[in-house]
Order: sequence, then C-alpha cells, then structure tokens
Amino acid sequence: MLRLGFLGAGKMAHALANGFLAAGLTKADAIIASCDPSDNSSIESFQKLGANVLFCNSSVMKQCNVIFLAVKPVVVPLVLSDIKPVISEKHLLLSIAMGISIEEIEMSLPKDVRVIRVMPNTPATVRCAASVFSCGSAARPEDINLTKKLFGSIGTCEEVPETYMDPITALSGSGPAYVYAIMEALCTGGVRMGLPRELARRLVTQTVLGAAKTAVESNQHLSQLCDDVTSPAGSTAEALYWLEQSRLRAALIGAVEVATKKCKEVNLKR
Ligand SMILES: NC(=O)c1ccc[n+]([C@@H]2O[C@H](COP(=O)([O-])OP(=O)(O)OC[C@H]3O[C@@H](n4cnc5c(N)ncnc54)[C@H](OP(=O)(O)O)[C@@H]3O)[C@@H](O)[C@H]2O)c1
Repeated sequence: MLRLGFLGAGKMAHALANGFLAAGLTKADAIIASCDPSDNSSIESFQKLGANVLFCNSSVMKQCNVIFLAVKPVVVPLVLSDIKPVISEKHLLLSIAMGISIEEIEMSLPKDVRVIRVMPNTPATVRCAASVFSCGSAARPEDINLTKKLFGSIGTCEEVPETYMDPITALSGSGPAYVYAIMEALCTGGVRMGLPRELARRLVTQTVLGAAKTAVESNQHLSQLCDDVTSPAGSTAEALYWLEQSRLRAALIGAVEVATKKCKEVNLKR
C-alpha cells in the first residue's frame, strides 16, 4: 500500500489525493496531509476524504515514503527547513510548487535526496489532469516509474526538460482557469441572447468537453477543426471574425506570456 504524505493540504493537494483515491492507487487512511491548525477548510476537505491531517511536517515524513511538496512557493523554504533533519534515502520528494527549481530544492536538503518536480493541474480531481515532470539528480528509474504510475492514473503524464516548466505552468497549470473564464463568458453570451443560464451552462460544458475529445481523438491541426465548423458566409464565420477583431487569440497568447513571466519572477525573488 502506497503511503502518501502531503506537505500542504490546499486545493492542489486535495485534487491529487482525490484523484489517486478515485484511481484506486491507495486507501484514504494511507494518506496523511499537514497544514496549519487554523486552515479549517483544508482540514475539512482532507477529513471528508477519510485521510489523516497532522499539524507537523516532520510527522508526515516519518509516516510516509512518497512526499508531495504542495505549499505555495513562498512557504517552500520554511517547509524545506522543517523536513531537512528528517528526510532520508527512503523518501521520494515530488514537488508541485510553481517556480521552484530542482536545484534550489536539492541545495536546501541533504545530498542525494530523491527529487522529482511535477506540474499537474486541478482536473486531477476528475482524473483528467495534464501533468509533466522533470527528474532531480538522484532520482532513480523506479522513482520515474512511480511518478508515471501516480500521475498517469489521474490523466496524462510525460517527462519534459526542466527549462519547459515555467511556460508549462503558464499553459496547463493555470490553463483550467482560462477555459473556465471563456466558458463563463460564453454562458453569459447565451443568457444575453435569451437562454436560461442553466441550459447555457449545460450546453457550454458539453461543447467544450466534445471539442476537447474531438481534438484528442483526431490528429488534425486545431485550425482545421475550426474550419470544419465554419461554412462560407455563415454565422460561425461571422463570430470568428468578431473574435479576431476583439483580439481573442492575441489575448490568450499574451496570457501565457505574462503568466510565464510571473513564474520567472518567483524564481528571481528567491
Ligand atoms: N492550484 C493549482 O491549480 C495548481 C496547479 C499546479 C501546481 N500548483 C502548486 O501547488 C502548490 C499549492 O497550491 P494550492 O493552489 O494548492 O495552494 P493552497 O490552496 O493555498 O494550499 C497551500 C496549503 O499549504 C498549507 N501551508 C501553509 N504553510 C504551511 C506549512 N508551513 N506547512 C505545511 N502546510 C502549510 C496552507 O495552509 P494555510 O492556508 O493555513 O496557509 C494550504 O493548506 C503551489 O506551489 C502551486 O504553485 C497549484
């Protein structure tokens, strides 16, 4: 039985724990998370899963071999100093912290600690995450296999060079938020044209799901799939022209750029 420890019991830790349980990879009582005693919503959400919550990072380290570093980047140095005296070769540390390099983690911990940096996203909750990972200097082949097993059980998972991590954080780490913002705006468009909001929500969610499934299952370029919906002089062509005039594509391209820059600022601030 995998004993999974989460340092940080926030939104992403909960999404992962929920996904691993749904995938049957471990049992709830083999999951232990740590957080601040005042963090009632995190405590409640982990307890609802049936997992254990402690208020001490080193206790989590003592009881688990596979450890997720799942706190906000600003808290990472504090947590690394907490675990430094207790981390050993029995541990695999999987860091999901945005903007914190493997080198920075390795430099803060004893030599030869096994580190893998992962960037998942919140659809982990429904086992539809897009995750990538990069290996630290002491990671072993069995650590890579375990990472693929864990994150592959809750969506897609592939190894990438660490230099891709900031743009990936900006693209797929934050990506669900961009998609929800677009979906919400489309719903509002439907309501503005007279549709009940609940009907608009059902139609938009199924449309996004269907479009994503089509894109996954077909090997066609995304612009070809767009063309397939667009008849000459039709209503879709009119709408696409409006989006082009409103600079939707430029806005989304720019969003990935500014989010990447923000990740780099986190690196530089440290
Ligand atoms: N959310 C996403 O979509 C997403 C996607 C990919 C990666 N990530 C990464 O995942 C990490 C966590 O993000 P999140 O969105 O899950 O943040 P979050 O909801 O704020 O969770 C952070 C958790 O860490 C706890 N914490 C704070 N100080 C701690 C300490 N000293 N020891 C142990 N736990 C402590 C927090 O408790 P308090 O609330 O009491 O401070 C909170 O439960 C970040 O580094 C982020 O970059 C997030």
